[in-house]
Amino acid sequence: MITKITDAGYTLSPRAEQALRAVDRHLFVPDATLEQAYENSIVVTKWSDDEQVLSCLSQPSIVALQLGQLDVQLGHRVLEIGAGTGYNAAVLAYLAGPHGHVTAIDVDADIVEQARERLAAAGVGNVEVVLGDGALGYGPGAPYDRIVATVGAWGIPEAWLAQLAPTGRLVVPTRIRGSVSRSIAFERDEDGLWRSVDHKMCSFVPLRSGIADDPRRRIPLTADNAVTLQLHQEHAINPAELMGVLTLPRFEAWTGVTFGPMQSLEWLYLRLACVLDASLCSLFVDPAAVEAGLVKPMFRAYTMAVPGEGELAYLTWRRAGHTENGGKIMEIGVIGHSAAGSAFADHVAGEVRTWGEQQRIPTVQFEISPTGTHDPQAGKFVLDRPHHRLTAIWQ
Ligand SMILES: C[S@@+](CC[C@H](N)C(=O)[O-])C[C@H]1O[C@@H](n2cnc3c(N)ncnc32)[C@H](O)[C@@H]1O
Repeated sequence: MITKITDAGYTLSPRAEQALRAVDRHLFVPDATLEQAYENSIVVTKWSDDEQVLSCLSQPSIVALQLGQLDVQLGHRVLEIGAGTGYNAAVLAYLAGPHGHVTAIDVDADIVEQARERLAAAGVGNVEVVLGDGALGYGPGAPYDRIVATVGAWGIPEAWLAQLAPTGRLVVPTRIRGSVSRSIAFERDEDGLWRSVDHKMCSFVPLRSGIADDPRRRIPLTADNAVTLQLHQEHAINPAELMGVLTLPRFEAWTGVTFGPMQSLEWLYLRLACVLDASLCSLFVDPAAVEAGLVKPMFRAYTMAVPGEGELAYLTWRRAGHTENGGKIMEIGVIGHSAAGSAFADHVAGEVRTWGEQQRIPTVQFEISPTGTHDPQAGKFVLDRPHHRLTAIWQ
C-alpha cells in the first residue's frame, strides 16, 4: 500500500509512513478482501437507496495527503469530522500518541457503533467516537490542536474555527465550485486571518444530515442514463433543459494546450472553476456511449463539463506527439453541443488557452475573510458561502 501511494505521486513523511504501517487497515473493513483493503482506492461501506456513496474508507493516497497537511504531533488533541470506519482516527491516534487524544464524529448511529467496535478490535484506546452533526464540531473536547474533515464541505462552519486552539490547524476538503475540490490546510496568521498554508486536489463524499449539507445530484443527459452530469447546490438547472443536449449541433474547439504523462490537470480545473460562472462539473460516461461515438471524454469514462442554458461544453483530447521516452502528449480540446452555435465551446476553449499561456502551475492562496472584492483581472475570486466567504488569490 505504501508503494502504491508513492507510485501515485504522493509523499509520506517518515512518521506518517510509520503510522500507516502500524495500523492494520483490513481490521476496519472486515467485509472486504485483503486485496481490496490495501488497494489504493476507496472501500465503500454504506450506500443510499439511490446508490450514492454515504460512507467509505478513504483512498490511502488521500489519507496520506491529509496526514501531510495535518502534521499531527505527539500529545495533540485532534477532532476528525467523518469517523466512517474509524481507520483514519486510529492512524491519527497513533500519531498523537498515548498522551494525545482523538475525537471522531459521525452523523449515523450505525456508523458510529461500527467504528467503535473496530477501534476496540484493533486495540486503539485514545479515540472517542461520538454521534452528531460534525458541522457543529464537538464542543466538549475543544480546544483542538488539529481539526480534519474527511468529508467534503462547501463552506467552513463557524464551529470548526471557534473550536481550534490559537495555533491550531484546520484541514478541510473544500468544494471550490462545481465538482472541483481541494483539501485546504488553514492556519491563523498574525492578524488573526485564516489563510491557507497548503492545498491539494481531492474529492470526498459531501456533508449530509446537518447544518452545512452540500447536496449533489446526477442528471441524465441521455434517455438510457449512459451519460450523466453531476450538479451541485449552486446549480439551478432544470434537468429537462439538458436532456438530449448531446443531439444538438456539435462544435470542436482545439486549444493548442498540451499535457504529458503523469501531468495533472488540477490547476486547469481550479482556474476554470474560478473563472467560469457555470463552473466545471463531473461528466460520467458509459464506455458504450464512447464506443458509439456519442461522446469523447478526456478519460475513459469521465471528464469535466460546463453546463449552460440548454447547452453543454466538455473537455476532450487528441494526440499531439510523444515525449523522448515515448509517452503520449495530448492536446486539450473542448466539444460543445448547442443550438446557438460554437460560442459556448469557444469561450471555454479560450479560458483553457489563457491558462496555458499564463503560469500553468501557479501560486494560489485561499483566505477565509468577511471582506474582499472579486477582481478576476487581479486574480482575486471571492466565493460566497453561507458561513464565511472564501477568497482564492492567484499570484
Ligand atoms: C469518507 S467517509 C470518512 C472515512 C473515515 N475517515 C475512515 O477512516 O473510514 C465520510 C464520512 O463522513 C460522514 N458524514 C457525512 N456527513 C456528516 C456530518 N454532517 N457530520 C459528521 N459526519 C458526517 C459520513 O457518514 C461518512 O462516514
